[in-house]
Amino acid sequence: MWKNIMAAPEDSILGLTEAFRKESNPRKVNLGVGVYKDDNGNTPILHCVKAAEEILLQKEKTKSYLPISGDPSYAAGVQRLLFGTADEVIQSGRAATVHTPGGTGALRVGADLLKKFKPDAQVWISSPSWANHKGIFDSAGFCLREYPYYKSDTKKIEFEKMLACLEAIPERDIVLLHACCHNPSGVDLTPEQWRKVALISEKKGWTPFLDFAYQGLGLGLVEDRFAVELFALTGMDYFVASSFSKNFGLYNERTGALTIVSPNARESTVALSHLKATVRVCYSNPPAHGGLVVATILNDPALYAQWLGELNGMRERIVGMRSALVDGLAQRGVKGDFSYIKEQRGMFSFSGISETIVTWLREKKGIYVVAGGRINLAGLSTKNIDYVCDSIAEALA
Ligand code: LMR
Repeated sequence: MWKNIMAAPEDSILGLTEAFRKESNPRKVNLGVGVYKDDNGNTPILHCVKAAEEILLQKEKTKSYLPISGDPSYAAGVQRLLFGTADEVIQSGRAATVHTPGGTGALRVGADLLKKFKPDAQVWISSPSWANHKGIFDSAGFCLREYPYYKSDTKKIEFEKMLACLEAIPERDIVLLHACCHNPSGVDLTPEQWRKVALISEKKGWTPFLDFAYQGLGLGLVEDRFAVELFALTGMDYFVASSFSKNFGLYNERTGALTIVSPNARESTVALSHLKATVRVCYSNPPAHGGLVVATILNDPALYAQWLGELNGMRERIVGMRSALVDGLAQRGVKGDFSYIKEQRGMFSFSGISETIVTWLREKKGIYVVAGGRINLAGLSTKNIDYVCDSIAEALA
């Protein structure tokens, strides 16, 4: 069967981790995949997660199937995290949430569902965007288009161009937006800019699909959901894909959620029925553990407070590493203004370094960066920052 078939290329992000595992350089540093590491280079299990797991170990009585949409306490917890002050959405029953295997699962379920009801739509993604966005919507059968977003040479959003493009998008189309911590650029819209985008979406009627994989890692749990709350005020249909890989550190538990907000409760019931039908033919029903951990934490005030503390700690360590990188490069006399790295949010910085340098860093220094120059700041630590700064300085000399 495979005789005349070429091998598929390695995944541009996860494939890099596989290569990194085989890397023999003892000083190797993985700045590729978006996984948080502490200052010792470990990806720890959060204390609140361990505590929730102990509770579950005592309490759990069965491993029978979950409902297709997942545990109801999980969906309720996710909605509280998403809507905050816009809880009218919850009270009026306008939101339908299903537990999905990770944020990727949420995007794919959303894509499959949209393909059924908007078969002729095009999906618009930001330029640049997370590499897998293209793959997911492409696999669901959509034609992909790009809207202008981040300009590497100015390190800024091309907002006027972005708006002009969004203005021209027809009603039948879908626009994928990064709710916070834009991946890969780390540059987010301001609240004022979000308002303009929401106004256009209301006027033009295209469907917003918010990818929300980094809540709490930008400015904070509440600040980061600004766009999610804002679209709720429009009363329009929109989709939100949540991931709890990063903010709960539940990477391998594949814990995400897809929420569809509709104009009213009746339509929301219809949306939920189709969400369930889509899930059923894809993976039937979700794996329980990660969702139950998240639900346990979100529904227990002490664990919730502990989680907030741990989440804030992760965010602050990343912010510290942003400064350490900028200062380290300046101390080494590296030409150029790198202060933009401090302004960016979330795990990433789109450094704009060339492919030649990306390859040089990998081959000569064992420093792994995603093609295009995306750096995961959470992979930096006080132990490796000097080595990384020395290496970048040498590369750019
Ligand atoms: C990333 O962008 O590195 C993460 O979202 C992990 C992934 O699945 O690509």
